[in-house]
Amino acid sequence: MSVVYLNGAYLPAAEAMVPVDDRGFLFADGIYEVAAAYEGRWLRLDAHLARMASGLAALSIDFDPASLVAVHDELLRRNGLANAPAAIVYVQVTRGVAPRSHAFPTPAVAPTVYAFAKEFRRPDPVRWSEGYSAITVPDPRWARCDIKSIALLPNVLAQQSAVAAGVDDALFVKDGIAIEGAHNNLFAVFGGTAVTYPKSNYILPGITRDLVLDLARARGIPVEERPIRLESLWDADELFTTGTTTEVRPIVSVDGRRVGGGRVGAVARTLHEAFSEAVGALASGAVT
Ligand code: PDD
Repeated sequence: MSVVYLNGAYLPAAEAMVPVDDRGFLFADGIYEVAAAYEGRWLRLDAHLARMASGLAALSIDFDPASLVAVHDELLRRNGLANAPAAIVYVQVTRGVAPRSHAFPTPAVAPTVYAFAKEFRRPDPVRWSEGYSAITVPDPRWARCDIKSIALLPNVLAQQSAVAAGVDDALFVKDGIAIEGAHNNLFAVFGGTAVTYPKSNYILPGITRDLVLDLARARGIPVEERPIRLESLWDADELFTTGTTTEVRPIVSVDGRRVGGGRVGAVARTLHEAFSEAVGALASGAVT
């Protein structure tokens, strides 16, 4: 059985209990993070915790996520994942437990901090080379998608639509713009330039998105941060999504139509290789 972290203690998952008055349960009043470790080395954990710190500040939850670095390592260790090829730690912080009332409890209560570790499989090379499929769905989300809120119902429904359609990903479309995936960011390639929606309140500023932009620049691939119109998807040379467990994932079909000639393109391949090199370099203690 896995060992999880809850409010300062490590305990078997089945023994981890949160009171029904937790504001995460009642209001989705909290945020989360997902960071990946490869053979025990974290990929940009500092950036994940910095994003969590800004989310906590936006929600006025008084908690310093810097204390979670040790929790990340300890969860890998206690779950036998310290040398796993790839593992994630999920961490969630809610405002805490208080009788249901919309406004913040006064005086403030201690936040609830929960985390677990899990192995994940890096993409299968054969499957990856065939490319993945997606559908588009209208984006019904609020105007603070930059906050990694645990209120994920639109993302859940979008991903379920993808499952029901027998495809891999769902892409949110807002005002005619293909904005991001249900759990990843979206890139399109036009004439060799990798394009992705600019950081704003309408998308999650992905840590992998930033890493991929850095890797592209380092390899001389031009990048542009601008909106991608839905109609232009069909003219894109390539599409791919990025995310902590998605890594760099080529999309070759959207809404049943081929994109990028239905084949994985050169830019996605280069960036996937660059990503794998960055992961490999972690073993030598390199900072990516
Ligand atoms: N999803 N956009 C959305 C809506 C996301 O939920 C995610 C991450 C991303 C990519 O962010 P990053 O590169 O920092 O993982 C973009 C996580 C992994 C999840 O919900 O499990």
